[in-house]
Amino acid sequence: MVNKLKVHDKKGNFEQEVEMSGKRSMLDDMLDNGVNVFFGCMGGSCSACKCKITKGLEHVDKEAMGPQVYSDVAEDEVLSCIARVKEGVDGEEIELEKCL
Ligand code: FES
Repeated sequence: MVNKLKVHDKKGNFEQEVEMSGKRSMLDDMLDNGVNVFFGCMGGSCSACKCKITKGLEHVDKEAMGPQVYSDVAEDEVLSCIARVKEGVDGEEIELEKCL
């Protein structure tokens, strides 16, 4: 299962493309590939890792790695530390913009 994640900064400028295995959080996949992204608690409660999904939101499980504690998250946003590609999704392209 391999999906692509295109990472943009908060102004929408393209930064980097990352492959996601679907087994780890989106944040872990970004960090493993050297993406400069903010994070803090790693558990869904601080919002430092919040990102806006601009393409492929239907393929993202927003609480795959645990419950979302921080609640000020819009419909098209995820806390990347607890979000992951949905089970069974393969060959898709997801795009996000970092919120910080
Ligand atoms: S790192 Fe704190 S909510 Fe993701």
